[in-house]
Amino acid sequence: MASRYHQIYDEWKRDPEGFWAMAAKDIDWIKPWRRVFDPGAGVYGQWFAGAECNTCFNAVDRHVAGGRADQLALIHDSAMTGAVKKYTYAELKTEVVALASVLTNQGVGKGDRVIIYMPMVPEAVFAMLACARIGAIHSVVFGGFAARELAGRIDDAQPKVVVSASCGLEPGRTVPYKPLLDGAIELARHKPQRCLILQRSQLLCELAEGRDVDLGDAMARERAAGAAAPCVPVLATDPLYILYTSGTTGTPKGVVRDNGGHMVALKWSMQNEFGVSPGETFWSASDVGWVVGHSYIVYAPLLHGCTTVLYEGKPVGTPDAGAFWRVISQHGVAALFTAPTAFRAIKGQDPRGEHVGRYDLSRFRTLFLAGERADPPTIEWAEERLDRPVIDHWWQTETGGPITHNPVGLGQLPVKHGSPGVPMPGYDVHVLDDAGHDVAPGTLGNVVIKLPLPPGCLPTLWNADGRFRKAYLEEFPGYYKTADAGFVDEDGYVFIMARTDDIINVAGHRLSTGGMEEVVAQHPDVAECAVVGIADTLKGQVPCGFVVLNSGVSRQAAEIEQEVVGLVREKIGPVAAFRTVVTIKRLPKTRSGKILRGTVQKIADKQEWRMPATIDDPAILDEIAAVLKERGIGI
Ligand code: COA
Ligand code: AMP
Repeated sequence: MASRYHQIYDEWKRDPEGFWAMAAKDIDWIKPWRRVFDPGAGVYGQWFAGAECNTCFNAVDRHVAGGRADQLALIHDSAMTGAVKKYTYAELKTEVVALASVLTNQGVGKGDRVIIYMPMVPEAVFAMLACARIGAIHSVVFGGFAARELAGRIDDAQPKVVVSASCGLEPGRTVPYKPLLDGAIELARHKPQRCLILQRSQLLCELAEGRDVDLGDAMARERAAGAAAPCVPVLATDPLYILYTSGTTGTPKGVVRDNGGHMVALKWSMQNEFGVSPGETFWSASDVGWVVGHSYIVYAPLLHGCTTVLYEGKPVGTPDAGAFWRVISQHGVAALFTAPTAFRAIKGQDPRGEHVGRYDLSRFRTLFLAGERADPPTIEWAEERLDRPVIDHWWQTETGGPITHNPVGLGQLPVKHGSPGVPMPGYDVHVLDDAGHDVAPGTLGNVVIKLPLPPGCLPTLWNADGRFRKAYLEEFPGYYKTADAGFVDEDGYVFIMARTDDIINVAGHRLSTGGMEEVVAQHPDVAECAVVGIADTLKGQVPCGFVVLNSGVSRQAAEIEQEVVGLVREKIGPVAAFRTVVTIKRLPKTRSGKILRGTVQKIADKQEWRMPATIDDPAILDEIAAVLKERGIGI
């Protein structure tokens, strides 16, 4: 089938407002918009200004009323406990209403913030939808972050209530969440009024008198009482959620998502970009703490009337490298979305793909990869073993959905390995040089998006319009800066090669090396430090810390290095995968004192590197190369 992509993209380009107004017909609105796009509102304009809607109504109630009450909405598959729990749309509604009533009883209302710090349990999804139902703004914090990171988010979002659980389950260990939550509240200046705690049988926790409430008990009471929690009308432009993501400093950025544009963009993407129909099963093997989890575990599949899978487990080791194929066959998954790192892990343990043949994958059509650069060998391996399209696509927490894609729903375009596809409607992608001029096809430069951003993208940062402008809009006036470097080829395919800032991508998780440096520098024996992301065959990148010790420190360097590793784990969390610290005599700097992190990274990655003309003392680079070689660091 010839792809309709070019025709649809041109339709959008000719009349963006008409295009999105048409897409918006697939959403139920309480009140229509005054203007499809109001360029005078917000920082760069707002979509569906004046409209009223409710995201939970569209994701849940609408399907219950419209004939999907008995269709499965959510399948919780825990490879960690071996349990599978299924909820129809009617059952999902009952749970969401119960949790919404619990929140309402605690005084949570429209515009109030609720932090959700939970493992991959159904209650995390119920809590997100319950907030959406009552117009509260949720902020989900990934469970792999430590207390200090959680505290920072509590202080920024100022939640009335935190929803959490007694524990998470990681291979080989139970992670007690409650001490992390208590520690975060202790550290935070803002104190939430109430914590709703899900007691998991694997590890119960003590509840703090007067502050903590047993979530399971409270929901059971609301269910028994037949509580009703009606969907509260909110403006399309009101925030649905805040999701914190790494910025260039240790202070994370609160990406805001609105209600109306978000629904329109996600609903459109399911059929047209992912080629999935209502009633089919869609599985995003991510975590609700990341944007992929927000968009493609929770909101998009449910808005579209699909069955979504919430998987608590890993691609390997739970119990083996066939885990993904087991889930796909057991639940009749039509499309799987995950990060390339998961496939590198599977390939590493099952290079010949022997597990694939053990399962019935007859309903499985397409594999979607995003979150980090998909290396061609991994894509080729997946294509060969699965004999199905493997589709790379590119996006960011800020956009909430794909910027570029190969829209299989409109008819698949030829796949080019190494490229995450072509721009989707809404995205006018340009590549600019540092002076802001468009570069020729094939030339590497700054990848930017012409304003306005389409529906679904962040309208601003939480309580920080100034930071939003400074971080994204000021460097290239008229454009949104993605902070990715890449190029567009003659056929219009985009290639994303690297970040232009200090963000690194570890197993599909976005982390700031600047944030890690702030922590490393706190060690009393460290005089100076630099953290760079170095290539890793499994995780894509891993952080590596370089430290210079204070003069006069007589302790063993190895001992201090281990303390620094422990410090990052304690302050940022295990998700940082910060395991390597190298003590060096001095850091390479320019004559003006800027640390040459890029050159150090190239040395570690054994890439070609050129001696920077401005370097203070070239001999330092040889010293670093020698230490890395001696320690066997880098690939
Ligand atoms: N709560 C507490 N700790 C968590 C956690 C959570 N929700 N999620 C991860 N962690 C911990 C892990 O236990 C691990 O701790 P360790 O240092 O004690 O081993 C650390 O954080 C790093 O976790 P992870 O990134 O999952 O690495 P891993 O080595 O355990 O597994 C992969 C590697 C490739 C299997 C894994 O990263 C993966 O499945 N990735 C899939 C991609 C993905 O989900 N991307 C998200 C965006 S799409
Ligand atoms: P996050 O906000 O966590 O989704 O991370 C976004 C960043 O991940 C992007 O800015 C890119 O650097 C990187 N990224 C995401 N998807 C891709 C992809 N398909 N190819 C290359 N890089 C990607």
